[in-house]
Amino acid sequence: MKHTRIAILASGIGSNALALMNHFDGHPTIRTSLLVSNKETCGALLPASKKNIASEVLSNAEIEDNQTLLMLLKQHSIDIVVLAGFLRRIPISVVQAFPDRIINIHPSILPEFGGKGMYGARVHHAVIEAHKKSSGITIHVVNENYDEGHYIAQFFVPVRANDDASSLGHKIRTLEQRYFPTVVEGYINSLTD
Ligand code: GRF
Repeated sequence: MKHTRIAILASGIGSNALALMNHFDGHPTIRTSLLVSNKETCGALLPASKKNIASEVLSNAEIEDNQTLLMLLKQHSIDIVVLAGFLRRIPISVVQAFPDRIINIHPSILPEFGGKGMYGARVHHAVIEAHKKSSGITIHVVNENYDEGHYIAQFFVPVRANDDASSLGHKIRTLEQRYFPTVVEGYINSLTD
């Protein structure tokens, strides 16, 4: 049976990328075929090489040029792109070539605390400053307006009076690890059923 080939794009620590790679290790129908980063220091690069998953580091200019990333995804016959803490905007050429086939994770309950400049710890700081009683994660399809594609799933955590951005970030990371890989898997299965 033909595998669905996914590319994971990550910039930072890479905990979500690693959770995805681990989840799809030995999967009967879904394979992590490529890891792309814009940072040599991305924490997912070493685990990818240990798992014999192809990886590429592209410069920000290459990511934005509308050709390099698209060509790379085509060379690796990628079916689905998963953004796992990827901090650059995906070029329009890629968004158009993968309609409903690009998935992002955002560490808040969108539409709140989304959009330009809202990533990583900045999101958690903003949630704390706004005295929100809950936060969470949104897993969504990427369309031409960054955080505005349709939502696949949202999961909530309470924000307690003694939480700060760091403790909230820890709770969010736990949610991401628990749900992101299985939601990606379910979404891919819903496309191929
Ligand atoms: C995660 O919180 C993710 O939701 C956000 O960026 C963070 C990346 O963490 N988009 P990691 O690199 O996957 O560890």
